[in-house]
Parts: sequence; structure tokens; C-alpha cells
Amino acid sequence: MRRRDFLKTAAAAGIVPMIMPGVRLFGADAASNKLNIALIGSWGRGEAHFGPISSENVVAICDINEEHMVGAAERFPKATKYTDWRKCLEQKDINAVVICTTDFTHAFVANWALNRGMHVYCEKPLGNTVEEVRTVRANYLKNKSKLCTQVGTQRHELENFNRVQELIRDGAIGEVTDAYAWGNRQIRRKGYLPAEGTPPPHLHYDLWLGPIATDHPYNPGYFSGGPGANCLQWNMYWDFGSGQVGDMGSHTMDLVWDAVEAQLPTTAEGKGQEFNPEVTPVELETHFEFPANSWRGPIRISWYQGGIMPRTPKEYVDLNKIDHGAMFKGTKGFLICNFDSRLILPIGRDTDMTYYKPRPKDKVLPAIGNFQKEWINGCKGNLKTSCDMEYSGNCIEMMLLGLVAYRVGKKLEYDGATGQVKNSPEANALLSKKYRQGWTLNG
Ligand SMILES: NC(=O)c1ccc[n+]([C@@H]2O[C@H](COP(=O)([O-])OP(=O)(O)OC[C@H]3O[C@@H](n4cnc5c(N)ncnc54)[C@H](O)[C@@H]3O)[C@@H](O)[C@H]2O)c1
Repeated sequence: MRRRDFLKTAAAAGIVPMIMPGVRLFGADAASNKLNIALIGSWGRGEAHFGPISSENVVAICDINEEHMVGAAERFPKATKYTDWRKCLEQKDINAVVICTTDFTHAFVANWALNRGMHVYCEKPLGNTVEEVRTVRANYLKNKSKLCTQVGTQRHELENFNRVQELIRDGAIGEVTDAYAWGNRQIRRKGYLPAEGTPPPHLHYDLWLGPIATDHPYNPGYFSGGPGANCLQWNMYWDFGSGQVGDMGSHTMDLVWDAVEAQLPTTAEGKGQEFNPEVTPVELETHFEFPANSWRGPIRISWYQGGIMPRTPKEYVDLNKIDHGAMFKGTKGFLICNFDSRLILPIGRDTDMTYYKPRPKDKVLPAIGNFQKEWINGCKGNLKTSCDMEYSGNCIEMMLLGLVAYRVGKKLEYDGATGQVKNSPEANALLSKKYRQGWTLNG
């Protein structure tokens, strides 16, 4: 069959959903079939992507800190260098973008890239507000038939995620009614850092602030963390992050999200330490209600952080020993897990496990392999990944809505279709943020 005929036949059969300009078929690693990637945020977490993207053409790198581009430029010498991601995305040959910048720029860069027809891998969390997440998800859904996305919860590649999902869906704890996730990281900050010194010439502080409406003075403290951990120097402040909700919460709630197959909640409530207008809470618990789906009844999902924990079902199981974990309650008992292990705790009468039939080997969920490679292969193939911007967008929208409920201090009724809180104008005002003039979220 000639190549063109093959493509026509394959397209008619629905097996070639995407052909991007400059991306050709035949051999994912063939020279003609490499992605042209822009790496935005090229140090810290960005370095964790050097390996996976090195099989592709890295045609652009961008960082507001010019010293942070040195390593990436050595690794990818053909890449053009930028300090402003808006300029970077104008480069015509880019067809895929890896975003490793601050949380408060993720949704901006992701929207701009999707709107320009680029595949996107975005580090977690997908956004800092409900509105940011909803815009990115909508742009992804509009382009789903031609673009591939993945949100950076790479622990998802651990096979334990599949095993937990199978046990829950196959009824090992009966019918699931509640799910809980928690993280005990405690990073306490007093308030935004005071003015101190001036930014060094290689650091474009004004571009770092980017869309932030408040003109926070420079302080080297925001930049004092080691590679891959510097986010902890800024992500506890409201303008820059969402605290543990977006930090470890993105990863840990993914354990629950993968198993329960939920969309958006109908209610949200939250409580925790006293509200601080500058710093996100350390101690927090949020709770959400979801309607039934095709295989389970209604479910309640909860998030706990900063040492606040769900109650253990049996005193001999010390949940505090699991620093980032999840638990599912069902009609026949509990499943408790962390990222790489799980245990089943049948509780109650009539819990002889005869109601649970393990799946045969050929029905066990296949391992997804390397998480970043899943995205690269998805861009060149069926556009599917495990944590696309719909799946991950819904999860972080719920988590961010929980922060709004905590701030308002009442049980919110939420309409996921419109993204509106039905019983609190005050909460609705907190679903979005104002940005600095000249910065457009959905540009
Ligand atoms: N998936 C994970 O396990 C994981 C682990 C760590 C961090 N992260 C996420 O990765 C992101 C980066 O975290 P980090 O600790 O590397 O932070 P960081 O502060 O070190 O920033 C990473 C790099 O991006 C650059 N940068 C910041 N703003 C930029 C902008 N507007 N344009 C271009 N470059 C910009 C910085 O100069 C730095 O080189 C965060 O969103 C964080 O949540 C994910």
C-alpha cells in the first residue's frame, strides 16, 4: 500500500487521529518523527525532563533566570534561548511544550500553547484557581482530537495505582462510599518576604512575577531552594501557590482520583487553621460530595493536611505512619495505601471475601511505563495519556474549590457544569484572580 493510501485507510479506521505539521508517521523514534519541544522552566523540576525529552528535538528553552539556562543549553545546544515564555511560544517550529515554571504561570503557558496548536506536558498543579483550571481544561477538550496533554503527577506510573483501582472497582471492600487522602508536610511561613536587596542581573524578577497583580518586592528567599525543591520557597503564599493542596495534594489525591472515577463535586466544605491573607493554611481538611456513576453509588471524598488526619478504622493501624496516603471505605471494609503499597482491611459481619473475585491475569491493567514517555508517545500516536488535562483538571478543580470553601467557612453547593457556586457570591468571587495589566490568561 502506498503511504498516502495507508494514511487514508488508517484515518478512516480512526487509528491515526493526529498528524501535526512537521510530525510524520513510521517509527516513533525516526528522525522525521521527532517532536519539536520547548522546555519552559529549564532548571529545578525542568531538569527531571532532560532525559525523557532528549529523544526529541528540543528547539527552545526558556527561563527567567539566565544562569538556569546554562545546563539546559549545554544539553540541548540547538535550542533557541528565551527569558519570556510569550516570546518563546512565537517560535514557529514548536509543536510541543513542557512547562516547569511556577504554579501561578502554569495555566497561562498551557492555554497559550494549546491555543497555538501545541501538545502540552504541564507540571502539577494545573492552575492556582478554579477559573484557571477550567480554562485550560476547556481548551484541551476543544483540541482533544489533535493535541495530547499530561499533567506532571509522575507517581501515577507506579503499578500500585492500577492495583488500587482494580481492588476498588472489583469490590474488594464492597461498595465504596468514602475516600480520603492526606499529606503531613508542614511548611510554616509568616507572610510575604520583605524587600531585600536587588535582583541579580541574570534574574528577570519582573518576568518571574509575570501575571501577579500585586507588586511583591524582591527577596532572595524566594530563590534560595535547591533544584527541584525551590517551589517550596514560594508555593505556600496565596499569590504564588496553593500550599499543600497543589503541592503534594496533586500527587496524593491522584491515588483516590484514579480509583473512584469522579467528575466534579456537587458540594465542598473546609476548615483548618485561622485564615491568613498572605499564607495558605498548613492545617486543613476539605470534604466533597459526588453523585453516583455507572459502577458505584454517591461518594464523599476528603483531603487532610498538616497533621489533621482521618480516623483510623482500627487502632492497630497507625495512619500517621503514612506521610502521604489514601484510604477508601466500603461496605465490607477499608483499603489503605500509599504510593507504592496497599492493604485491605475487611471489617464487619459477612466479610469472608467471597464477594471479591480477583481478575484473571489477562484483565489486569497494564503498566503505563515511563510517565513522561507516555506523553511523548501519545503526541505521536493515539493522543492518550493517564493524566490528561480533563482527568487532572477535574481533580485539582475539586481541591482548589476546597480552599475556597475553607476561606468562606460554609458548605458550598457547586454547579460543575457552569463552574458557579450556587449559594455564596463571596465564594464565586474567590474562584478567579485579577491579573497584572498586559497578562492574559487565555491568550
Ligand atoms: N512532579 C513533581 O514531582 C514535582 C517536583 C517538584 C516540583 N514540581 C513542580 O514543578 C514546578 C517548578 O518547581 P521548581 O521547584 O523547579 O521551581 P523553581 O522555582 O526552581 O522554578 C523552576 C525553573 O523555572 C524558572 N521559572 C520560573 N518562572 C518562570 C517563568 N515565568 N518563565 C520561565 N521560567 C521560569 C525558574 O527560574 C527555574 O529555573 C512547580 O510548579 C512545582 O509544583 C513538580
